[in-house]
Amino acid sequence: MKHHDQVVLVTGAGQGMGQEIVQHFAKAGAWVAALDINADAVNETISLLPDDKAIGLIANIADSTSVKEAIAKVVAKFGRLDVIVNCAGVGSFDTFLETPDEHWDKVMSVNLNGTFYCCREAAKVMAKQGSGSIINISSTAALTGEGPSHYCSSKAGVMGLTRSISRELASHGIRVNTIIPGPTNTPMMADVPDEWTQKMIADIPLGRMGESIDIAKVASFLACDDSGFITGQNIAVNGGMAFI
Ligand SMILES: NC(=O)c1ccc[n+]([C@@H]2O[C@H](COP(=O)([O-])OP(=O)(O)OC[C@H]3O[C@@H](n4cnc5c(N)ncnc54)[C@H](O)[C@@H]3O)[C@@H](O)[C@H]2O)c1
Repeated sequence: MKHHDQVVLVTGAGQGMGQEIVQHFAKAGAWVAALDINADAVNETISLLPDDKAIGLIANIADSTSVKEAIAKVVAKFGRLDVIVNCAGVGSFDTFLETPDEHWDKVMSVNLNGTFYCCREAAKVMAKQGSGSIINISSTAALTGEGPSHYCSSKAGVMGLTRSISRELASHGIRVNTIIPGPTNTPMMADVPDEWTQKMIADIPLGRMGESIDIAKVASFLACDDSGFITGQNIAVNGGMAFI
């Protein structure tokens, strides 16, 4: 099996892409840790996974202490950490002129600070092992600017973070890459008005929205040796909607 005995932590695993990704790795033989801030969602994800191969973690990635504790639990349970997929993210529909400070702070603290904390704590474990793969999740909105200012800024920041840390971590045997999804059929998209969704689909050359499995397959590629010479890259999975 492709991910036999790899230890994989997925944040935002309570629903949407994260839930699909964690199932995809578990089916391919990995030991998996499903992390989310929402306890009920973690329990639902865990119920979809083989008991003996998975743990659930309730943690807030915007809190560095919570992240440290969660990663310590993964190491205590499985003895190592081979892959982290930083999928947890939030959005908020604000026009730029009406963006409240709290919404800006919330989106940045989860999407950018949270990804930073998770990368740093995971990389400390991986550096001791001398190997690992970090997979961050950005958004096509950061390429096109078609999204709220906090969301686009946070997701552009994730791409910069990936580029910077990939250089430092390469000498420790750690690869770092970002997946850039386009509009993808998850609960996050459920709040988007239907007319916006239809307009988005019309802008996608391959003619459909992404599915979580499209993202999971690329995460799987980035997690294994098939991508062993790829690091620091931002890889768009968006049906051709925009280019990097
Ligand atoms: N769905 C899309 O169209 C789309 C497009 C581009 C990028 N993305 C990005 O992909 C990622 C996954 O998106 P999704 O559509 O599956 O989202 P989603 O809203 O369906 O799921 C996100 C999960 O993250 C969890 N989460 C939120 N804040 C957290 C925190 N502080 N700590 C831990 N967990 C937290 C939520 O509880 C939820 O289970 C996000 O980073 C999102 O920004 C989504």
